[in-house]
Amino acid sequence: MKALILSGGQGTRLRPLTHTIAKQLVPVAGKPILWYVLNHIAQAKIKEAGVIISPETGQHVKDYIMDGAQWGLKPRFIVQKKPEGLAHAVLTARNFLKNDDFVMYLGDNLLSEGVKSAIDRFKKKKSEALIFLKRVDDPKRFGVARLDAEGKVVELIEKPENPPSNFALVGVYIFTNKIFDAIARIKPSRRGELEITDAIQELINMGHAVDSQVLDGWWLDTGKKDDLLEANTIVLDEYVKCDIAGEVDKLSRIIGRVTIEAGTVVINSHMRGPIKIGKNARIENSFIGPHTSIGDGAAIKDSAIEHSVILSDSVIEGIERLEDSLIGRNARVFKNMHRHKALRLMISDDTVVEV
Ligand code: TTP
Repeated sequence: MKALILSGGQGTRLRPLTHTIAKQLVPVAGKPILWYVLNHIAQAKIKEAGVIISPETGQHVKDYIMDGAQWGLKPRFIVQKKPEGLAHAVLTARNFLKNDDFVMYLGDNLLSEGVKSAIDRFKKKKSEALIFLKRVDDPKRFGVARLDAEGKVVELIEKPENPPSNFALVGVYIFTNKIFDAIARIKPSRRGELEITDAIQELINMGHAVDSQVLDGWWLDTGKKDDLLEANTIVLDEYVKCDIAGEVDKLSRIIGRVTIEAGTVVINSHMRGPIKIGKNARIENSFIGPHTSIGDGAAIKDSAIEHSVILSDSVIEGIERLEDSLIGRNARVFKNMHRHKALRLMISDDTVVEV
């Protein structure tokens, strides 16, 4: 069994962050999304992983995974020149995948549980594909599966008007090499992409068995800002520990689970966890509320922040209340101390500012 991790794409919905960072490297609870994906691959004892990268952000992904030793993996980086769809990414990896079975994992998806039990089921059932499903309240927004009584997939429908079930397709799949026959038979969709849902439907049309596994735990697709903040909330809720390696002065109060890494200094501040703060940051005269992640080297002064993700080396100063925000690296948000209350902005393309 090999792994194919999709870390290409454009990440348009997470701009402007994705102008300079690969979407899969945006941190959730202080770790890149890809870190969680690679851990699941490692837990399943998979050793060979193909990593689809784009020409624009691929080098960042390579620099992060390096030789894969941290996960006991041998990575092969595969450049997909244009993001022409998930099924196109599979085609691009043909030389790497050869005729082996593989787990395909979208590099921007976070799952509460790993892929090991699904692989065991796949091997036992001898189907040509296994898809992960999650019960959702609003199936109209997703690819939806219709199943028979044994969990075999009968039909897949993209964003259906009248959903036949509330089982949404999650971004993790297991395939045999039959998927290549199916991809050869499909055409690009209306949005010009070779869709993996069309390829799986084609497998069914060809008479092959497509099995499914329903996830009990959470599944998070981190495509947009609010999804990313939700992912940060859930992962902090689940994983963050009380672990204070930085320095906290006597005037500060820390309540709940808060991780503060080495080299970080906290002065006269209140924190209410779950919170994750990286290395060498500085928090002064501030309140940091639940579900906040602060990156390495960030500085927060005279501010109150809650339910936000602040990336490394950013400065937040004199801000009475910052909520539901995603702040990129090296950004600066500070209060205008002049009497003249104009906003003075220098923001990058595709930025959203809510005043
Ligand atoms: P998407 O979220 O569907 O696409 P995207 O990353 O381009 O984002 P946006 O829609 O905001 O522009 O992609 C899901 C995952 O698959 C993500 O990790 C990127 C990856 N991907 C590829 O590697 N190649 C592709 O051709 C596509 C479409 C996505």
